[in-house]
Amino acid sequence: MNSGEIVSRLRELGDAFKADLKSRESEMDIRALQAAYLGGKGEVTALRKMLGKIPAEERRTVGQALNDVKDRIEKAATSAIDILKEGASREYLERHVDLTLPGRVPTVGSLHPLSIVMYDIVDIFVSMGFDVVSGPEVETDYYNFGALNFPDDHPARDMQDTFFIKEGRTLLRTHTSPVQVRTMQSRSLPIKVVAPGVVYRRDDDPTHSPMFLQIEGLLVDEGVTFAHLKGVLSAFIHQIFGRDVKLRFRPSFFPFTEPSAEVDIECIACRGRGCRLCSQSGWIEILGSGMIDPAVLEESSIDPERYTGFAFGLGVDRIAMLRYEGITSIKLFYENDPRFLGCFRR
Ligand code: DAH
Repeated sequence: MNSGEIVSRLRELGDAFKADLKSRESEMDIRALQAAYLGGKGEVTALRKMLGKIPAEERRTVGQALNDVKDRIEKAATSAIDILKEGASREYLERHVDLTLPGRVPTVGSLHPLSIVMYDIVDIFVSMGFDVVSGPEVETDYYNFGALNFPDDHPARDMQDTFFIKEGRTLLRTHTSPVQVRTMQSRSLPIKVVAPGVVYRRDDDPTHSPMFLQIEGLLVDEGVTFAHLKGVLSAFIHQIFGRDVKLRFRPSFFPFTEPSAEVDIECIACRGRGCRLCSQSGWIEILGSGMIDPAVLEESSIDPERYTGFAFGLGVDRIAMLRYEGITSIKLFYENDPRFLGCFRR
């Protein structure tokens, strides 16, 4: 055979391999066919052996043709095997898995409803220029009561109401108001902060949990008046409960404010007509507030002749129960049942 004949025979072998492949149905068959073409006894090898007998200047072309056919055969074998495997796995899936079933959507976590309400409240005060601060949950009697002008015999200091760690010394804070004192003693004036956090009281019924959330607010500057308190708190309530909700400032008493006021909103459930939720009064208490007592300012080395301020404290759980009507027990917030918690989105 001359070199032209060898080259064209090699091309024919490449085509013949492809045609033979069609009848092979397993990987083993395909590999056997490949060995028959390219192995020691195959025709390609026989043609390769003729390389030595052809003129040197034609060897390059024949060598190239030998490599090409080897390449074509190997590639065709591999791709035929790939196709077989893919078909087998599809057939397997179709036999064992129902591909028409809908997929499983992974569940995405959500914020706790109390966190949602807390962030919403904090955002409103931040938009009015308040900073966010925090304080410890294990407090001393001094910050929780003493520096806030609670007399020694105040009932809140009683074992019945407060979780004491060391009687008369350390306790679980009963409100976020101690953060007021810590802030006044560590920050320079003017001060404009809110302090969200967990507080503890020896209370346990459908509307009281031994652990609950409060947000404290504090503003101290020159020339602060009760009108500022009313303006800030009215703006806050209208943002959280809507423009048309009615509210009232009701005279009250706290040891650390003078004068003091509690703020009520018209009952969300009955629109003021009187129902079980509002104990037939038509009003629901939302927060406590007042002008900071001069004795409290003095205790934190702030001159009450020059500076005045207001403070307020609100219960996040109460606001959440009002916002998400139909929550009949505060306990739901703390049982951490994902079926309940998953109902809320910010
Ligand atoms: N600390 C009070 C409580 O837990 C709430 C409160 C009332 C906070 C009046 C204040 C305030 O800052 O001025 O019931």
